[in-house]
Amino acid sequence: MTTTGSAPEFDTAEIPAVLPDDAALAALAPTSVRAGGLGAAHAKVIVLGEHSVVYGRPAVAVPMAHLRAHAEARAVEGEVRLVTEEFSGSISELPDRLAAAGIAVVAALEHLGHPIRGVEVRVRSGIPAGRGLGASAATAHAIVEAVRSHVGGMIEEDDRFDLVQTAEREAHGRPSGLDARVTRATTPVLFQGGAIRPLQFAGPINLVVADTGIRGSTREAVSRVRRVIESDPRRGEGLLDELGALALAAADDLTAGDLRRLGARMLAAQAVLEELGVGHESIDRLVDAALGADALGAKLTGGGQGGCVVAVAPDTDSVPRIIEAMERAGAVGSWTVGLEA
Ligand code: MEV
Repeated sequence: MTTTGSAPEFDTAEIPAVLPDDAALAALAPTSVRAGGLGAAHAKVIVLGEHSVVYGRPAVAVPMAHLRAHAEARAVEGEVRLVTEEFSGSISELPDRLAAAGIAVVAALEHLGHPIRGVEVRVRSGIPAGRGLGASAATAHAIVEAVRSHVGGMIEEDDRFDLVQTAEREAHGRPSGLDARVTRATTPVLFQGGAIRPLQFAGPINLVVADTGIRGSTREAVSRVRRVIESDPRRGEGLLDELGALALAAADDLTAGDLRRLGARMLAAQAVLEELGVGHESIDRLVDAALGADALGAKLTGGGQGGCVVAVAPDTDSVPRIIEAMERAGAVGSWTVGLEA
């Protein structure tokens, strides 16, 4: 599986695809003397099932292996500190936007039985935030692993999941757990009942992910969907069921390599997501542009109301055309996810 792409706003070019963590961090912090722990995790793209997954329906998602968040933990004097591109200081002074990262640090330290002091965590992420690509979950995983490898000890996979979910509740309010699972997955997965199952797929399958440039809030999008469902529960449940059925069928399409059916289901899901109130004109523009360049289907991915669009290409050769069309229609960055059987 490969992921490639560009995001002018976030210069990921300096983080070549899937480096060993050490090398990536050395590139990020060349002057620091490192005697600390390292952690990393990657982005994800939901092919089908966002929002309905919050209500227990299945979802299909794919890891974006080279789009990564990195963290490094090391010993310092005094209070726990967090360092990012936008902030450097004690976790008692974190801006709201970084509250989830702070919670990940504290949760990991507590889990490992370490005092809540004497550690600094430096975070650098190539995953654009607020675009539905799992930036907050990937960052939390990177932090948990950096703290673990600095402090020592083991963290079981389910405990890692719980620690990341603790941070995700701050970021999202009511996370399904999909992001926490898929940002550590290595294959396309079917997420159901809180767990992931690797999906067999018949490749090549080429997905194009394009960024509208509009930051969406997953928390707000999830609340919006809840309001729509509560305003008419019968209709709401019907829409959730429809998305769940589309996701299950999409898993079969991936297994069969039936990209036409997959594309049609993605378009059907986009219509349902619009009914649930999470569409946006910037999404419509990119979906139309992708279809105009022969994509077989396209839809929002993640929370919506901006964020990213995912399109499925008919073949590898048409990928550059689809990217170009989406960029002409306003995409500020794009990535491809190539699945080879
Ligand atoms: C966010 O990537 C996907 C949503 O379904 C929220 C969640 O699963 O927690 C919108």
